[in-house]
Amino acid sequence: MQALVLIGGFGTRLRPVTYELPKQLIPIAGKPMLYHVLDLLPREVDRAVFATGYKADVIEAYVRAHPPPHLQVTTVSEAEPLGTGGGMRNAGDGIGDPFVLLNSDVISDADVAGLLAFHRAKGAYGTMLLHEVEDTRPYGVAALDPNDRIERFVEKPEPRDAPSHWINAGVAVWSETVLAGIPKGRAVSFEREIVPGTLGRGVYGFRSAGFWEDAGTPERLLRAQRLLFDAGRGGDGSLPAASTGLGPAAVGRGVDARGASFGPYVTLGDGVVVERDAHVENSVVMDGAFIGAGATVVGSLIGPKARLSAGGRYEGAVIAAEPRP
Ligand code: GTP
Repeated sequence: MQALVLIGGFGTRLRPVTYELPKQLIPIAGKPMLYHVLDLLPREVDRAVFATGYKADVIEAYVRAHPPPHLQVTTVSEAEPLGTGGGMRNAGDGIGDPFVLLNSDVISDADVAGLLAFHRAKGAYGTMLLHEVEDTRPYGVAALDPNDRIERFVEKPEPRDAPSHWINAGVAVWSETVLAGIPKGRAVSFEREIVPGTLGRGVYGFRSAGFWEDAGTPERLLRAQRLLFDAGRGGDGSLPAASTGLGPAAVGRGVDARGASFGPYVTLGDGVVVERDAHVENSVVMDGAFIGAGATVVGSLIGPKARLSAGGRYEGAVIAAEPRP
């Protein structure tokens, strides 16, 4: 079975870091968020097609250097952004029936094997994993009948128009024939333009009880990192050599943090230097970044090769080496 993974977005809400690094390659709890998403796939899914666009070459090079275990990956990139539906249509030739559809920036403990079993038991045309949230405004919202069939699906409704609190969690199973209904060669939103028209064919909601976070903003990305660490998906969690403080931390190769201190929930990429008396907590510090002596970094995203000056205070900051494209 194959998975179709949507990886073509610009990640505007994570700029300036995403000017250099596509969102999906930002490491959280020790590895790129894309790889946490791929970890959800059961063994039955042995191939994945990546629908890429923005920084497709960076993603391709990374995946070639770090092939995901148990998964044969091909990438199909868009010259112009085609939206979620257009990206599916562009990349989905020969995907097989059914296929798993994944957003690449949603962190969860989704039970994809359970989702597939539910999809088959219902004889469904499509099945979307649903997660319950208070504020549905940024998401697609589903209304279910007593048999969990989706009766209505509204993308990004105003609160008064939201039919429930169950949202599209970015993991689904679809019949291959859904692709033929997507217009070719133009941008299409799968959720707005296609999903509502499929409901008559039997589309179901599979309610997820586990953790879930849309890692598309700095705050939510750091919340996703905390969830992953708390779920034991952030490696062994120990601090860099000769540093003090509290873990968990995920520490890359060649990190030098002697004399620095840490609070919980930190990722340090390869070659990161944290000088003495600096303190880092609830943050992601990407490959080759440098944090000067005595600096404080809390709740922040520090991009690859960024340099933070000695004694500086960074709270809720998003910092890139090159702040503009
Ligand atoms: P923002 O610009 O910050 O909103 O992020 P984004 O561009 O990633 O948008 P959003 O979070 O809404 O995207 C949801 C998922 O669809 C992500 O996995 C995106 O990478 C993916 N996606 C969004 N637009 C496209 C597109 O035009 N083509 C493809 N192939 N994927 C897309």
